[in-house]
Amino acid sequence: MSPTMTNPMIEIRPSAQAASPEERAKRMTNPGFGRIFTDHMVVVPYKEGEGWGRGLLQAYGPIAMDPAASVLHYGQAIFEGFKAYRQPDGAIACFRPEANARRFNNSAARLAMPELPEAIFLEAAKALITQDQAWVPGAVGESLYLRPLMIATEAALGVRPSNEYLFILLASPSGAYFPAGVKPVTVWISDDYVRAAPGGTGFAKCAGNYAASLVAQRQALGEGCDQVVWLDAVHRQYIEEMGGMNIFFVYQEKGETVVVTPELTGTLLPGITRDSLLQIARELGYRAEERKITVDEWRTAIEEGRMTEAFACGTAAVITPVGHVKSRHGNWTMHNGETGPVAAKLRETLLNMQHGLSQESHGWMKRMV
Ligand code: PLP
Ligand code: COI
Repeated sequence: MSPTMTNPMIEIRPSAQAASPEERAKRMTNPGFGRIFTDHMVVVPYKEGEGWGRGLLQAYGPIAMDPAASVLHYGQAIFEGFKAYRQPDGAIACFRPEANARRFNNSAARLAMPELPEAIFLEAAKALITQDQAWVPGAVGESLYLRPLMIATEAALGVRPSNEYLFILLASPSGAYFPAGVKPVTVWISDDYVRAAPGGTGFAKCAGNYAASLVAQRQALGEGCDQVVWLDAVHRQYIEEMGGMNIFFVYQEKGETVVVTPELTGTLLPGITRDSLLQIARELGYRAEERKITVDEWRTAIEEGRMTEAFACGTAAVITPVGHVKSRHGNWTMHNGETGPVAAKLRETLLNMQHGLSQESHGWMKRMV
């Protein structure tokens, strides 16, 4: 939709202070991850009894909030992350945004927040990408990262679901998530902290999960590692995730390549990259399994030479190989600390689909502009 047409779901009010092409080009040089933002954002209000109001695409900037807003006290806050990629013909397409809309609503339900109609989620993305299309980088590995969030804004200190919310969508041109680019990371297996417990919020993308992870991430850094690996809360044996990413293990069994990722138990975030890689792996002729895997299995499979690689995956960094593992269970090295061929192949295959450099038959790419 062109910004000048009337959009029934979202009013378009362009910023009077949009960056000049020179300023934009300067800010988009080495964007890193999540450090620069486009000229606009979309805000959609919700009120109990009235439902979702008309959204507004407006200049990016601070929002005013009552200090009694319940998000500031009781943490009803959820978010998503997906990317828009420039295609070879100049179009801009998002990778599986409907899947993010669905997961957003699963997160909302877990936090007793209202569901947002998928049409509003997608229309907000379309409006913002259309308005700020000049901010979508073109190089492979670069994209426009879309960050939808929902917060509880009612000024009320009673512990109950808020009656008012804001949905906000931001966009951030991004390059590599990890400053070193695609370099294997060293991970610390956390015995002291857990990310999520059965019955908790592990499957939801809620702000509190990330707040609770930071001290473990700091401990990992203190141990000379880049990232934390989470174990299950009950047995403290089963591997769940790596930092804010899902994790895969690669085995060579009787001449067959097998990729294994922990099964979704309710405590893991059901990653959209994880789901996509399971499908791509099968299309590449690998066997793909979702099952439980213990730290002991990780260590012994390496010692016995059955496991050859491990890598993490998520929207932000796509695929990040694991080079070294440190823990109180011992230290070991994966694939000589280098990127393995299966991680490299999966990464290349996925990135080519996202950038429109290869055909994809799943209907994953949704054209926005
Ligand atoms: N696990 C956690 C805890 C995450 O925050 C993310 C990021 O969204 C992922 C996994 C990967 O999910 P996705 O591939 O949908 O980005
Ligand atoms: C991911 O996309 O993999 C993430 O975990 C996003 C992160 C910045 C929360």
